[in-house]
Amino acid sequence: MDKLIINGGTVLKGEVSISGAKNAVLPMLCASVMATDTCVTLNNIPHLHDVTTTVRLLRQMGVSVTLDDNMNIELDPSTIKNFHAPYDLVKTMRSSILVLGPLLARFGSAVVSLPGGCAIGTRPVEMHLDALSKMGVTFDIQNGYISANCSRLIGCEISFPKTTVTGTENILMASTLAEGKTVITNAAREPEVVDLANFLNEMGAEITGHGTDVIEVKGVKSLRGVSYSALPDRIETGTFLVAAAITGGEITIKNTISNHVAIIIEKLRQSGAIIDSTDSSITLNMQGKRPKAVNIETGAYPLFPTDMQAQLTALNTIASGTSIIKENIFENRFMHIQEMSRMGAEIKLEQNCAIISGKDELVGASVMATDLRASASLILAGLVAKGTTEIERIYHIDRGYDCIEEKLQQLGADIHRMPM
Ligand code: EPZ
Repeated sequence: MDKLIINGGTVLKGEVSISGAKNAVLPMLCASVMATDTCVTLNNIPHLHDVTTTVRLLRQMGVSVTLDDNMNIELDPSTIKNFHAPYDLVKTMRSSILVLGPLLARFGSAVVSLPGGCAIGTRPVEMHLDALSKMGVTFDIQNGYISANCSRLIGCEISFPKTTVTGTENILMASTLAEGKTVITNAAREPEVVDLANFLNEMGAEITGHGTDVIEVKGVKSLRGVSYSALPDRIETGTFLVAAAITGGEITIKNTISNHVAIIIEKLRQSGAIIDSTDSSITLNMQGKRPKAVNIETGAYPLFPTDMQAQLTALNTIASGTSIIKENIFENRFMHIQEMSRMGAEIKLEQNCAIISGKDELVGASVMATDLRASASLILAGLVAKGTTEIERIYHIDRGYDCIEEKLQQLGADIHRMPM
Protein backbone atom coordinates (compact mmCIF):
# COMPACT_ATOMS: atom_id res chain seq x y z
CA MET A 1 0.00 0.00 0.00
CA ASP A 2 1.37 3.45 -0.94
CA LYS A 3 1.76 6.43 1.35
CA LEU A 4 1.94 10.15 0.68
CA ILE A 5 4.90 12.20 1.94
CA ILE A 6 4.33 15.95 2.33
CA ASN A 7 6.91 18.55 3.35
CA GLY A 8 4.77 21.44 4.56
CA GLY A 9 5.26 25.19 4.32
CA THR A 10 4.90 25.92 0.60
CA VAL A 11 2.47 28.69 -0.30
CA LEU A 12 0.39 27.24 -3.15
CA LYS A 13 0.12 29.34 -6.29
CA GLY A 14 -1.17 28.51 -9.76
CA GLU A 15 -4.00 27.05 -11.78
CA VAL A 16 -5.83 23.73 -11.60
CA SER A 17 -8.48 22.14 -13.83
CA ILE A 18 -11.34 20.21 -12.21
CA SER A 19 -12.24 16.64 -13.23
CA GLY A 20 -15.69 15.16 -13.74
CA ALA A 21 -17.84 14.61 -10.63
CA LYS A 22 -17.48 11.14 -9.07
CA ASN A 23 -20.97 11.33 -7.55
CA ALA A 24 -22.56 12.17 -10.90
CA VAL A 25 -20.62 9.58 -12.93
CA LEU A 26 -21.32 6.59 -10.65
CA PRO A 27 -25.15 6.70 -11.04
CA MET A 28 -24.81 7.42 -14.80
CA LEU A 29 -22.67 4.31 -15.27
CA CYS A 30 -25.34 2.28 -13.44
CA ALA A 31 -28.19 3.90 -15.41
CA SER A 32 -26.53 2.83 -18.69
CA VAL A 33 -27.89 -0.72 -18.24
CA MET A 34 -31.35 0.70 -19.02
CA ALA A 35 -30.43 1.69 -22.61
CA THR A 36 -31.80 -0.45 -25.46
CA ASP A 37 -30.60 -0.59 -29.12
CA THR A 38 -27.67 1.86 -28.77
CA CYS A 39 -24.63 2.38 -26.53
CA VAL A 40 -24.08 4.99 -23.84
CA THR A 41 -20.92 7.09 -24.14
CA LEU A 42 -19.80 9.06 -21.08
CA ASN A 43 -17.14 11.78 -21.33
CA ASN A 44 -15.23 13.89 -18.76
CA ILE A 45 -14.89 10.79 -16.57
CA PRO A 46 -12.43 11.16 -13.65
CA HIS A 47 -9.68 8.57 -13.28
CA LEU A 48 -10.83 7.14 -9.93
CA HIS A 49 -10.88 3.75 -8.22
CA ASP A 50 -14.64 4.05 -7.69
CA VAL A 51 -15.11 4.45 -11.47
CA THR A 52 -12.96 1.40 -12.26
CA THR A 53 -14.79 -0.58 -9.55
CA THR A 54 -18.15 0.31 -11.12
CA VAL A 55 -16.81 -0.67 -14.56
CA ARG A 56 -15.68 -4.02 -13.08
CA LEU A 57 -19.14 -4.47 -11.56
CA LEU A 58 -20.88 -3.83 -14.90
CA ARG A 59 -18.40 -6.01 -16.83
CA GLN A 60 -18.97 -8.99 -14.51
CA MET A 61 -22.71 -8.58 -15.29
CA GLY A 62 -21.81 -8.94 -18.96
CA VAL A 63 -22.10 -5.29 -19.99
CA SER A 64 -19.51 -4.49 -22.69
CA VAL A 65 -17.43 -1.53 -21.47
CA THR A 66 -14.60 0.13 -23.40
CA LEU A 67 -12.46 2.99 -22.09
CA ASP A 68 -10.15 5.16 -24.20
CA ASP A 69 -6.95 6.90 -23.02
CA ASN A 70 -8.94 10.04 -22.14
CA MET A 71 -11.26 8.04 -19.86
CA ASN A 72 -14.21 8.33 -22.25
CA ILE A 73 -16.35 5.25 -21.58
CA GLU A 74 -18.64 3.42 -23.99
CA LEU A 75 -21.15 0.97 -22.50
CA ASP A 76 -23.24 -1.60 -24.42
CA PRO A 77 -25.75 -3.31 -22.06
CA SER A 78 -27.16 -5.59 -24.80
CA THR A 79 -24.67 -8.30 -23.78
CA ILE A 80 -25.72 -8.29 -20.09
CA LYS A 81 -26.09 -11.84 -18.75
CA ASN A 82 -26.66 -11.56 -15.00
CA PHE A 83 -28.06 -9.05 -12.55
CA HIS A 84 -25.68 -9.69 -9.66
CA ALA A 85 -23.66 -7.19 -7.63
CA PRO A 86 -21.33 -9.41 -5.53
CA TYR A 87 -20.09 -8.63 -2.01
CA ASP A 88 -16.41 -8.54 -2.98
CA LEU A 89 -17.11 -5.50 -5.17
CA VAL A 90 -19.90 -3.86 -3.15
CA LYS A 91 -17.87 -3.97 0.10
CA THR A 92 -15.25 -1.65 -1.47
CA MET A 93 -17.82 0.77 -2.84
CA ARG A 94 -21.21 1.29 -1.21
CA SER A 95 -22.59 3.19 -4.17
CA SER A 96 -22.94 -0.18 -5.99
CA ILE A 97 -26.46 -0.07 -4.51
CA LEU A 98 -27.16 2.28 -7.43
CA VAL A 99 -27.49 -0.71 -9.79
CA LEU A 100 -30.65 -1.78 -7.97
CA GLY A 101 -33.09 0.73 -9.49
CA PRO A 102 -31.85 0.40 -13.10
CA LEU A 103 -31.75 -3.44 -13.06
CA LEU A 104 -35.30 -3.63 -11.65
CA ALA A 105 -36.58 -1.06 -14.13
CA ARG A 106 -35.07 -2.78 -17.16
CA PHE A 107 -35.04 -6.49 -16.21
CA GLY A 108 -37.32 -6.83 -13.15
CA SER A 109 -34.63 -8.65 -11.20
CA ALA A 110 -31.49 -7.90 -9.17
CA VAL A 111 -29.33 -9.59 -6.55
CA VAL A 112 -27.24 -6.95 -4.79
CA SER A 113 -25.02 -7.36 -1.76
CA LEU A 114 -26.07 -5.24 1.20
CA PRO A 115 -23.48 -2.45 1.17
CA GLY A 116 -22.69 -2.54 4.88
CA GLY A 117 -21.35 0.47 6.70
CA CYS A 118 -18.15 2.39 6.30
CA ALA A 119 -15.90 4.58 8.46
CA ILE A 120 -18.32 7.52 8.48
CA GLY A 121 -21.44 5.65 9.50
CA THR A 122 -23.75 2.62 9.31
CA ARG A 123 -25.03 3.87 5.94
CA PRO A 124 -28.37 1.95 5.91
CA VAL A 125 -30.41 1.63 2.70
CA GLU A 126 -33.89 0.99 4.10
CA MET A 127 -35.27 4.14 2.44
CA HIS A 128 -34.19 2.78 -0.96
CA LEU A 129 -35.89 -0.58 -0.30
CA ASP A 130 -39.06 0.88 1.23
CA ALA A 131 -39.53 3.15 -1.79
CA LEU A 132 -38.93 0.33 -4.29
CA SER A 133 -41.35 -1.99 -2.48
CA LYS A 134 -43.99 0.75 -2.79
CA MET A 135 -43.33 0.56 -6.55
CA GLY A 136 -44.08 -3.19 -6.56
CA VAL A 137 -40.73 -4.81 -5.78
CA THR A 138 -40.61 -7.89 -3.54
CA PHE A 139 -37.43 -8.43 -1.52
CA ASP A 140 -35.82 -11.45 0.06
CA ILE A 141 -32.82 -10.45 2.20
CA GLN A 142 -30.63 -13.39 3.18
CA ASN A 143 -26.91 -14.00 3.81
CA GLY A 144 -26.14 -10.33 3.27
CA TYR A 145 -27.78 -10.20 -0.16
CA ILE A 146 -30.87 -8.34 -1.37
CA SER A 147 -32.80 -10.45 -3.90
CA ALA A 148 -35.29 -8.16 -5.58
CA ASN A 149 -37.98 -8.94 -8.17
CA CYS A 150 -40.91 -7.19 -9.81
CA SER A 151 -43.07 -7.60 -12.94
CA ARG A 152 -43.18 -3.94 -14.01
CA LEU A 153 -42.49 -1.12 -11.57
CA ILE A 154 -45.57 0.96 -10.82
CA GLY A 155 -45.21 4.73 -10.54
CA CYS A 156 -46.48 6.21 -7.26
CA GLU A 157 -45.92 8.93 -4.67
CA ILE A 158 -42.59 8.44 -2.83
CA SER A 159 -41.93 10.67 0.16
CA PHE A 160 -38.52 10.20 1.78
CA PRO A 161 -38.55 10.64 5.60
CA LYS A 162 -34.98 12.01 5.32
CA THR A 163 -33.24 13.51 2.31
CA THR A 164 -31.12 10.80 0.69
CA VAL A 165 -28.92 11.43 -2.36
CA THR A 166 -28.52 7.87 -3.68
CA GLY A 167 -32.03 7.01 -2.46
CA THR A 168 -33.39 9.80 -4.68
CA GLU A 169 -31.15 8.61 -7.53
CA ASN A 170 -32.25 4.97 -7.26
CA ILE A 171 -35.94 5.91 -7.40
CA LEU A 172 -35.32 8.50 -10.12
CA MET A 173 -33.69 5.83 -12.34
CA ALA A 174 -36.28 3.16 -11.48
CA SER A 175 -39.26 5.44 -12.19
CA THR A 176 -38.09 6.34 -15.74
CA LEU A 177 -39.36 2.94 -17.01
CA ALA A 178 -42.18 2.44 -14.47
CA GLU A 179 -45.87 2.27 -15.39
CA GLY A 180 -47.41 5.74 -14.92
CA LYS A 181 -46.20 8.75 -12.94
CA THR A 182 -43.90 8.85 -9.91
CA VAL A 183 -43.68 11.90 -7.65
CA ILE A 184 -40.66 12.01 -5.33
CA THR A 185 -41.06 14.44 -2.44
CA ASN A 186 -38.28 15.48 -0.05
CA ALA A 187 -36.01 14.66 -3.01
CA ALA A 188 -32.29 15.46 -2.84
CA ARG A 189 -31.37 18.66 -4.70
CA GLU A 190 -27.62 18.03 -5.17
CA PRO A 191 -26.17 19.11 -8.56
CA GLU A 192 -25.19 15.46 -9.16
CA VAL A 193 -28.88 14.47 -8.90
CA VAL A 194 -29.77 17.21 -11.40
CA ASP A 195 -27.01 16.02 -13.76
CA LEU A 196 -28.30 12.45 -13.55
CA ALA A 197 -31.84 13.65 -14.35
CA ASN A 198 -30.54 15.64 -17.35
CA PHE A 199 -28.65 12.53 -18.53
CA LEU A 200 -31.79 10.36 -18.18
CA ASN A 201 -33.87 12.94 -20.08
CA GLU A 202 -31.29 12.82 -22.90
CA MET A 203 -31.91 9.05 -22.93
CA GLY A 204 -35.66 9.74 -23.45
CA ALA A 205 -36.92 9.91 -19.87
CA GLU A 206 -39.59 12.47 -18.89
CA ILE A 207 -38.32 14.04 -15.65
CA THR A 208 -39.29 17.49 -14.34
CA GLY A 209 -38.66 19.32 -11.05
CA HIS A 210 -35.08 18.03 -10.61
CA GLY A 211 -33.11 20.47 -8.48
CA THR A 212 -36.16 21.06 -6.30
CA ASP A 213 -37.44 18.80 -3.51
CA VAL A 214 -40.34 17.54 -5.68
CA ILE A 215 -39.37 15.54 -8.77
CA GLU A 216 -41.99 14.18 -11.19
CA VAL A 217 -41.25 11.30 -13.56
CA LYS A 218 -43.60 10.03 -16.28
CA GLY A 219 -42.66 6.42 -17.07
CA VAL A 220 -41.69 5.68 -20.71
CA LYS A 221 -41.44 2.39 -22.59
CA SER A 222 -37.69 2.46 -23.26
CA LEU A 223 -34.53 4.54 -23.03
CA ARG A 224 -31.92 5.00 -25.75
CA GLY A 225 -28.15 5.23 -25.52
CA VAL A 226 -26.66 8.75 -25.69
CA SER A 227 -23.33 10.57 -25.45
CA TYR A 228 -23.05 12.75 -22.34
CA SER A 229 -20.39 14.69 -20.37
CA ALA A 230 -20.57 14.66 -16.58
CA LEU A 231 -20.50 17.94 -14.66
CA PRO A 232 -17.34 19.09 -12.82
CA ASP A 233 -16.70 17.90 -9.27
CA ARG A 234 -17.76 20.56 -6.74
CA ILE A 235 -16.05 18.75 -3.86
CA GLU A 236 -12.72 18.61 -5.71
CA THR A 237 -13.25 22.35 -6.44
CA GLY A 238 -13.81 23.08 -2.75
CA THR A 239 -10.85 20.95 -1.71
CA PHE A 240 -8.42 22.91 -3.93
CA LEU A 241 -9.87 26.25 -2.79
CA VAL A 242 -9.09 25.22 0.79
CA ALA A 243 -5.61 24.00 -0.24
CA ALA A 244 -4.80 27.54 -1.43
CA ALA A 245 -6.49 29.20 1.56
CA ILE A 246 -4.79 27.05 4.23
CA THR A 247 -1.33 27.85 2.81
CA GLY A 248 -2.05 31.58 2.39
CA GLY A 249 -1.70 31.23 -1.37
CA GLU A 250 -3.64 31.99 -4.53
CA ILE A 251 -5.29 29.72 -7.06
CA THR A 252 -7.29 29.85 -10.27
CA ILE A 253 -9.74 26.97 -10.66
CA LYS A 254 -10.83 26.16 -14.22
CA ASN A 255 -13.59 23.90 -15.65
CA THR A 256 -15.82 24.17 -12.62
CA ILE A 257 -19.34 25.51 -11.93
CA SER A 258 -18.96 28.30 -9.38
CA ASN A 259 -22.59 28.47 -8.31
CA HIS A 260 -22.40 24.83 -7.14
CA VAL A 261 -19.86 25.92 -4.50
CA ALA A 262 -21.51 29.23 -3.53
CA ILE A 263 -21.71 28.36 0.16
CA ILE A 264 -18.06 27.20 0.23
CA ILE A 265 -16.99 30.49 -1.39
CA GLU A 266 -19.05 32.41 1.21
CA LYS A 267 -17.33 30.55 4.08
CA LEU A 268 -13.84 31.10 2.61
CA ARG A 269 -14.60 34.82 2.15
CA GLN A 270 -15.56 34.89 5.84
CA SER A 271 -12.15 33.34 6.59
CA GLY A 272 -10.49 36.26 4.81
CA ALA A 273 -10.01 35.03 1.24
CA ILE A 274 -10.47 37.41 -1.69
CA ILE A 275 -12.54 35.43 -4.21
CA ASP A 276 -13.73 36.33 -7.70
CA SER A 277 -15.59 34.02 -10.07
CA THR A 278 -17.14 33.57 -13.49
CA ASP A 279 -19.65 30.80 -14.28
CA SER A 280 -16.84 28.28 -14.92
CA SER A 281 -13.79 29.61 -13.04
CA ILE A 282 -12.87 30.81 -9.54
CA THR A 283 -9.84 32.78 -8.32
CA LEU A 284 -8.96 32.79 -4.64
CA ASN A 285 -6.24 34.95 -3.09
CA MET A 286 -5.38 34.62 0.62
CA GLN A 287 -2.63 37.30 0.31
CA GLY A 288 -0.34 35.35 2.63
CA LYS A 289 -2.76 35.89 5.51
CA ARG A 290 -3.68 33.38 8.22
CA PRO A 291 -7.36 32.36 7.83
CA LYS A 292 -9.94 33.49 10.36
CA ALA A 293 -11.94 30.74 12.14
CA VAL A 294 -15.34 30.02 10.54
CA ASN A 295 -18.30 28.08 11.96
CA ILE A 296 -19.80 25.33 9.78
CA GLU A 297 -23.04 23.34 9.96
CA THR A 298 -23.49 20.58 7.36
CA GLY A 299 -26.80 19.83 5.67
CA ALA A 300 -28.38 18.66 2.41
CA TYR A 301 -27.74 20.82 -0.66
CA PRO A 302 -27.76 23.82 -0.93
CA LEU A 303 -26.60 23.87 2.72
CA PHE A 304 -22.92 23.29 3.51
CA PRO A 305 -21.87 19.87 2.09
CA THR A 306 -20.81 17.16 4.54
CA ASP A 307 -18.18 16.14 1.97
CA MET A 308 -16.37 19.44 2.67
CA GLN A 309 -16.59 19.26 6.47
CA ALA A 310 -13.21 17.60 7.02
CA GLN A 311 -11.47 20.10 4.73
CA LEU A 312 -12.87 23.10 6.65
CA THR A 313 -11.91 21.37 9.90
CA ALA A 314 -8.31 21.34 8.62
CA LEU A 315 -8.50 25.06 7.76
CA ASN A 316 -9.84 25.89 11.23
CA THR A 317 -7.01 24.02 13.01
CA ILE A 318 -4.59 26.82 12.03
CA ALA A 319 -7.11 29.68 11.83
CA SER A 320 -7.11 32.63 14.23
CA GLY A 321 -9.90 32.10 16.76
CA THR A 322 -12.18 29.30 17.88
CA SER A 323 -14.71 27.60 15.57
CA ILE A 324 -17.55 25.09 15.88
CA ILE A 325 -18.20 22.48 13.18
CA LYS A 326 -21.55 20.71 13.40
CA GLU A 327 -21.96 17.49 11.39
CA ASN A 328 -25.67 16.79 10.81
CA ILE A 329 -25.52 14.12 8.09
CA PHE A 330 -23.29 11.26 9.25
CA GLU A 331 -22.88 9.92 12.76
CA ASN A 332 -19.17 9.28 12.64
CA ARG A 333 -17.58 11.75 10.27
CA PHE A 334 -14.91 13.10 12.64
CA MET A 335 -12.35 10.28 12.22
CA HIS A 336 -9.82 12.83 10.90
CA ILE A 337 -9.78 14.65 14.22
CA GLN A 338 -7.62 12.22 16.20
CA GLU A 339 -5.18 12.17 13.30
CA MET A 340 -5.00 15.98 13.20
CA SER A 341 -4.48 16.01 16.96
CA ARG A 342 -1.28 14.03 16.35
CA MET A 343 -0.17 17.06 14.34
CA GLY A 344 -0.86 19.40 17.27
CA ALA A 345 -4.44 20.42 16.42
CA GLU A 346 -6.58 21.40 19.42
CA ILE A 347 -10.07 19.96 18.85
CA LYS A 348 -12.72 18.91 21.37
CA LEU A 349 -15.59 16.62 20.30
CA GLU A 350 -19.02 17.14 21.87
CA GLN A 351 -21.65 14.84 20.30
CA ASN A 352 -21.87 15.93 16.65
CA CYS A 353 -19.85 19.11 17.17
CA ALA A 354 -16.12 19.70 16.91
CA ILE A 355 -14.85 22.75 18.85
CA ILE A 356 -11.55 23.85 17.30
CA SER A 357 -9.07 26.26 18.93
CA GLY A 358 -6.92 27.55 16.08
CA LYS A 359 -3.16 27.08 16.58
CA ASP A 360 -0.29 29.12 15.12
CA GLU A 361 1.09 26.00 13.54
CA LEU A 362 0.75 22.26 13.08
CA VAL A 363 3.72 19.89 13.14
CA GLY A 364 4.14 17.12 10.60
CA ALA A 365 3.51 13.54 11.80
CA SER A 366 2.66 10.05 10.55
CA VAL A 367 -1.13 9.84 10.20
CA MET A 368 -3.66 7.41 8.79
CA ALA A 369 -6.43 8.07 6.28
CA THR A 370 -9.77 6.60 7.39
CA ASP A 371 -12.17 7.65 4.63
CA LEU A 372 -12.16 9.59 1.39
CA ARG A 373 -12.67 13.15 2.58
CA ALA A 374 -10.74 12.64 5.83
CA SER A 375 -7.70 11.71 3.74
CA ALA A 376 -8.07 14.93 1.73
CA SER A 377 -8.18 16.93 4.98
CA LEU A 378 -4.97 15.27 6.20
CA ILE A 379 -3.23 16.31 2.98
CA LEU A 380 -4.42 19.90 3.59
CA ALA A 381 -3.08 19.78 7.16
CA GLY A 382 0.23 18.35 5.89
CA LEU A 383 0.57 21.19 3.34
CA VAL A 384 0.62 23.78 6.11
CA ALA A 385 2.34 21.77 8.87
CA LYS A 386 5.98 22.38 9.82
CA GLY A 387 8.14 19.46 8.71
CA THR A 388 7.11 16.18 7.12
CA THR A 389 3.72 14.44 7.21
CA GLU A 390 3.32 10.83 6.11
CA ILE A 391 -0.20 9.67 5.27
CA GLU A 392 -0.91 5.94 5.18
CA ARG A 393 -3.88 4.01 3.66
CA ILE A 394 -4.17 6.49 0.82
CA TYR A 395 -6.26 4.04 -1.20
CA HIS A 396 -9.09 6.06 0.35
CA ILE A 397 -7.96 9.19 -1.49
CA ASP A 398 -7.59 7.37 -4.81
CA ARG A 399 -11.30 6.47 -4.67
CA GLY A 400 -12.39 10.07 -5.10
CA TYR A 401 -9.58 12.37 -6.28
CA ASP A 402 -8.12 12.27 -9.80
CA CYS A 403 -4.27 12.60 -9.63
CA ILE A 404 -4.41 14.77 -6.51
CA GLU A 405 -0.67 14.82 -5.86
CA GLU A 406 0.12 15.78 -9.48
CA LYS A 407 -2.37 18.65 -9.32
CA LEU A 408 -0.92 19.83 -5.99
CA GLN A 409 2.65 19.55 -7.35
CA GLN A 410 1.55 21.87 -10.21
CA LEU A 411 0.65 24.39 -7.49
CA GLY A 412 4.11 24.08 -5.91
CA ALA A 413 3.33 21.58 -3.15
CA ASP A 414 6.17 19.32 -1.98
CA ILE A 415 4.17 16.08 -2.06
CA HIS A 416 4.98 12.66 -3.46
CA ARG A 417 3.73 9.09 -3.32
CA MET A 418 5.95 6.37 -1.91
CA PRO A 419 5.28 2.66 -2.14
CA MET A 420 5.30 1.06 1.34
C1 EPZ B 1 -24.14 10.41 -1.01
O1 EPZ B 1 -24.11 9.30 -0.14
C2 EPZ B 1 -22.72 10.62 -1.48
N1 EPZ B 1 -22.25 9.44 -2.20
C3 EPZ B 1 -21.83 10.88 -0.27
O2 EPZ B 1 -20.52 11.18 -0.77
C4 EPZ B 1 -22.35 12.12 0.46
O3 EPZ B 1 -21.56 12.34 1.61
C5 EPZ B 1 -23.82 11.89 0.86
O4 EPZ B 1 -24.60 11.58 -0.32
C6 EPZ B 1 -24.44 13.12 1.52
O5 EPZ B 1 -24.36 14.21 0.67
C7 EPZ B 1 -22.61 9.30 -3.51
O6 EPZ B 1 -23.33 10.10 -4.08
C8 EPZ B 1 -22.06 8.09 -4.21
P1 EPZ B 1 -27.46 9.84 1.88
P2 EPZ B 1 -25.51 8.60 0.30
O7 EPZ B 1 -28.33 8.70 1.53
O8 EPZ B 1 -26.51 8.74 -0.75
C9 EPZ B 1 -29.03 8.26 6.06
C10 EPZ B 1 -18.21 11.05 -0.85
O9 EPZ B 1 -17.39 11.47 -0.04
N2 EPZ B 1 -29.75 7.23 5.31
O10 EPZ B 1 -27.78 11.19 1.32
O11 EPZ B 1 -25.16 7.24 0.81
C11 EPZ B 1 -27.52 8.14 5.94
O12 EPZ B 1 -27.01 7.21 6.86
C12 EPZ B 1 -19.44 10.31 -0.39
O13 EPZ B 1 -18.14 11.23 -2.11
C13 EPZ B 1 -30.61 6.38 6.01
O14 EPZ B 1 -30.74 6.46 7.24
O15 EPZ B 1 -25.93 9.50 1.52
C14 EPZ B 1 -27.06 9.55 6.22
O16 EPZ B 1 -27.04 9.75 7.62
C15 EPZ B 1 -19.36 10.01 1.10
N3 EPZ B 1 -31.29 5.42 5.31
C16 EPZ B 1 -28.18 10.41 5.61
O17 EPZ B 1 -29.32 9.54 5.49
C17 EPZ B 1 -31.18 5.30 3.94
O18 EPZ B 1 -31.85 4.42 3.36
C18 EPZ B 1 -27.87 10.97 4.22
O19 EPZ B 1 -27.34 9.91 3.47
C19 EPZ B 1 -30.30 6.16 3.26
C20 EPZ B 1 -29.61 7.13 3.96
